[in-house]
Amino acid sequence: DRHELDNDCHDDDLLIASLPKEKGWLGLEDHFYQGFWCPDIVIRGVMSVQQHFKAQDTDLILITMPKSGTTWLKALAFAIANRHDYPNTLSQHPLLTSNPHKLIPFLEFNSNKEGCHIRSLPIVSNFQSPTANIFSTHIPYHSLPDSIKNSGCRVVYLCRNPYDVFVSTWHFVNKARAESLGPLSCDDAFDMFCRGVMGFGPFWDHALGHWKESLERPHKVLFLMYEDLKEEITLQIKRLAEFMGVPFSLEEERKGVIEETSKLCSFNNLRELEVNKSGSLLLFENKTFFRRGEVGDWVNHLTPEMVQRLNKIMEEKLDNSGLSK
Ligand code: A3P
Repeated sequence: DRHELDNDCHDDDLLIASLPKEKGWLGLEDHFYQGFWCPDIVIRGVMSVQQHFKAQDTDLILITMPKSGTTWLKALAFAIANRHDYPNTLSQHPLLTSNPHKLIPFLEFNSNKEGCHIRSLPIVSNFQSPTANIFSTHIPYHSLPDSIKNSGCRVVYLCRNPYDVFVSTWHFVNKARAESLGPLSCDDAFDMFCRGVMGFGPFWDHALGHWKESLERPHKVLFLMYEDLKEEITLQIKRLAEFMGVPFSLEEERKGVIEETSKLCSFNNLRELEVNKSGSLLLFENKTFFRRGEVGDWVNHLTPEMVQRLNKIMEEKLDNSGLSK
């Protein structure tokens, strides 16, 4: 009830105040919570998800580090799941009129202090994901609510090479930082990245947690790479649909449904849509979710010394994991 919830919030505030903190990329505080750097704007949301979100067996949870291609994954999962309702992807489809983040919400961004927007919460349960059962989050695997780990729901993790994640984040953050703070230099941002300080980071812990789980429980966690999506989208869309339990039929393949899905969700298509050129999500304008959408832009930003430093860290951290940088 409300009294209990007020107490929960009070306990959360005490806990947050006791955590180590550091000024994050946006110039706001990041809290070191359960082994990861949690931005101040979402930490209460994260706690609320942990305390109240009840996953169901039919749910699908999309997980990423920020700037790993979340928007793309959301578009693909939505298009795959709803393809029978919207067969004519070019003229009438929710993805043509809604930003992918609207269609598949982040659990932690949709729960306020009272957590009243997420399905299954104790007070108000008026929140329904428009897709009914697809949600997304940046929460690292070890901190997910038990119901996600232990129910029959499935998890798709999208990983991207850390060099591009860094560059993408740096650009993204600089568009959202308060003007009074001035831009964050590439050097300062890189130093934070290498120390693991980044929203939901360290990067390597995030990737490794999901990687290990995908090896141990391949039916539970599907591990995808942004670079593979760029290289062989048809194959990856098929993999994703199979994992989601809605494989494409031969008939659909013959009709070119996979290619249509790929086109609908492509960077160029989504970026040019009016809905993605306007509007915003929290501090971020929708258009900033679509920058270049390429693999390897890091060569334009990182010096050889920077590459060497991050190379060394990644080699150490990924050692023997089977996951390559
Ligand atoms: P760049 O900054 O390298 O261009 P997220 O969605 O997790 O915030 O990640 C954003 C990154 O994914 C940005 O990378 C963005 O351009 C890229 N992106 C967004 N939509 C995409 C799409 N449909 N296909 C490929 N990349 C996409």
